[in-house]
Amino acid sequence: SWRSRLRQRLLAWFDVHARSMPWRSDPQPYKVWVSEIMLQQTQVATVMPYFHRWMEAFPDIQSLAAADIDELMRHWEGLGYYRRVKSMHAAAQQIVDQHGGQFPADYDSVLALPGVGRYTAGAVLSISGDARLPVLEGNTQRVYSRWIGLRQTPTDKQANKLLWHFAETMLPQAESGRFNQAAMELGALVCTPRQPKCETCPVRSACSAAKHALQDVIPGKIKR
Ligand code: ADE
Ligand code: SF4
Repeated sequence: SWRSRLRQRLLAWFDVHARSMPWRSDPQPYKVWVSEIMLQQTQVATVMPYFHRWMEAFPDIQSLAAADIDELMRHWEGLGYYRRVKSMHAAAQQIVDQHGGQFPADYDSVLALPGVGRYTAGAVLSISGDARLPVLEGNTQRVYSRWIGLRQTPTDKQANKLLWHFAETMLPQAESGRFNQAAMELGALVCTPRQPKCETCPVRSACSAAKHALQDVIPGKIKR
């Protein structure tokens, strides 16, 4: 089918082109969670040194929960969006109090953590444990909109609902985490906001935006 061909090409591309990241070679839930929170609004290259310093200072959920908020802030300085640190601190304490210090494996408990929404919950559980959950963030919003030729602004209510549903229908039976990361990586490296590299794109033959030369108008811009 169209979906399985697209999936196969994307995954084969990811095997070759995936950037190496410390939370990819060792995808424990704690590392994936920290990386995903850092990656919200921040590029991979910027995140990398912060991630290493963070893991040195706070190697597990217990040490994060017990840490002083000022010390956490010092390790975050430069990443911005400081609310994220406060939420992570509170979430770590919740994990210690309610889950014995082990990152929970069930979706509802993960979603109940401060600072964790549908995207982060899906990312952590699929990447660390291969849960069959979709992700939708900036990269995948753009990539999926282009694949299906969706012209609406991806954050519009109706479009957002459609994209989450599409993301779900694309998941393979196994290795959803690898699929999710491959789709995000395609968005970061090939299917970029401006001048996507369609000539070298592994899924070009299945892409609606490329077929109709609509890469510049998809995703639809946020109206203001
Ligand atoms: N952006 C946010 N999360 C990501 C991930 N896991 N891989 C690549 N890019 C990302
Ligand atoms: Fe994106 Fe172009 Fe690939 Fe389509 S063909 S997914 S627009 S890079």
